[in-house]
This record gives sequence, structure tokens and C-alpha cells, in this order.
Amino acid sequence: MGGIGKTTLVKEVGKELKESGQFAHVIYTTVSFTPDIKKIQDDIAGPLGLKFWEYTESYRAKKLWSRLTNGEKILLILDDVRDQEPLLDFDAIGIPNWEYHKDCRVLVTTRSKQMFNKVNMDKTIELKLLSEEDTWIMFQSYADIINSSSNNVIVKGRKIAKECKGLPVAIAVIAHSLKGQQHHVDEWDVTLKSWKKPVSMQS
Ligand SMILES: Nc1ncnc2c1ncn2[C@@H]1O[C@H](COP(=O)(O)OP(=O)(O)OP(=O)(O)O)[C@@H](O)[C@H]1O
Ligand SMILES: [Mg+2]
Repeated sequence: MGGIGKTTLVKEVGKELKESGQFAHVIYTTVSFTPDIKKIQDDIAGPLGLKFWEYTESYRAKKLWSRLTNGEKILLILDDVRDQEPLLDFDAIGIPNWEYHKDCRVLVTTRSKQMFNKVNMDKTIELKLLSEEDTWIMFQSYADIINSSSNNVIVKGRKIAKECKGLPVAIAVIAHSLKGQQHHVDEWDVTLKSWKKPVSMQS
């Protein structure tokens, strides 16, 4: 699902694993729509100190493959892999299959459950929507609502937070738009009501 917090989570995980010394290199690259093999190869090669700009894609793939399987602890994060043709080709990039990874691990994020069947993954984790309490914690932080905020702000804030249905992108955008607006809390009702109105679509 879009906006559920995949990128935020993998970046945080990557940061923690690097800081804890579990990986010598944590490399992040965004894949998105049509995978750009050369760009992904460059994103991976750069932090590893490999320089091979002038070579062909297949030569780069070979070089990367041997670098990624030389026993060094490397975490590759491939963010936002799409379930559409052409599918991401690990071999063409030079990313070894998980049987040959040794100490190189690959973390892939995708919006699509179908990708689980198409890409040969060792483990899959599905991110869930936030619980009501976690939604409220995130909402308060983005809207700058604190314990000493007025009761009115807290009650209305909670109602609006609930309408975000646990989706981080909605919480981030809506709560941020209410930041600094606590003196206009009565206007928050207008926001709330406007969402509850059915929307008519006309061409
Ligand atoms: N745990 C979190 N704490 C605070 N903010 C978060 C959290 N998770 C997500 N967000 C915020 O929610 C928004 C959407 O998150 P993110 O971009 O990580 O989603 P995504 O699943 O990668 O979306 P997409 O599929 O569109 O790439 C961002 O503004 C991000 O800062
Ligand atoms: Mg993302």
C-alpha cells in the first residue's frame, strides 16, 4: 500500500544496522517505475568504491556480483520495486540470488503483494496500518499537540486522527496542516465535516 511507511521504516532500519556495526555498508536505492539498471548499478557501486562508468551493463553486473559476494557484510535496500513489466532483473544488475548472498543481504520494498510470488525472497513482512494509539502518537507529534494542550484541541485532534484510518501519509499531511492552528480549533470541525460529506464526481 502507498504511504504506509515502507521507505521511512527501511531507512530507519538501515541507519540502525549501520550504526550497530552489523553491516559494513548499507546502500539505499530507489527503483520505482521503469527500473534504470545503470542508475541502480551506479547507486550500489558508488558507496562500495567501484568505478566503472565506461563499461557495459553486463560487465558492471559481473563486477558488482563478485564485489557483493566477497564476504563483506553489505545491506542493499531496493525501495519501491514495482509489479510491472519489465520486472526488476537482479541478474542484470549484478545482485546475487539469496542462495549466494553470503554476508550480503537484500531488503526490497514494494506496494504489491503479487511481487512476493514473482521475486525469489527469503522472507516477507507485510506492513499494517497503525493502531489507533500509534496513530494518535504520530498525529500529536506532527500537529505539535502536547499534554498541556487544551481539552478541546485534544478531543478534536483525536477525532481527526481517527479519520486518518491509521495511514501514515494521511496522518503526516493532515496533522502537519493543523500545526500552529490550535487557536483556530473551531475551524477543525469544518475540516472534519468536509471529509464526512460524500463527494460527487461529475464529468
Ligand atoms: N513511523 C513513522 N513515524 C513518523 N512518520 C512516518 C512514519 N511512517 C511514515 N511516516 C510518514 O508518512 C509519510 C509516508 O511514509 P513513506 O514515504 O515511508 O511511505 P511509503 O510506504 O514508502 O509510500 P510509497 O509507497 O508511496 O513509497 C511520510 O511523510 C513519512 O514521513
Ligand atoms: Mg516509499
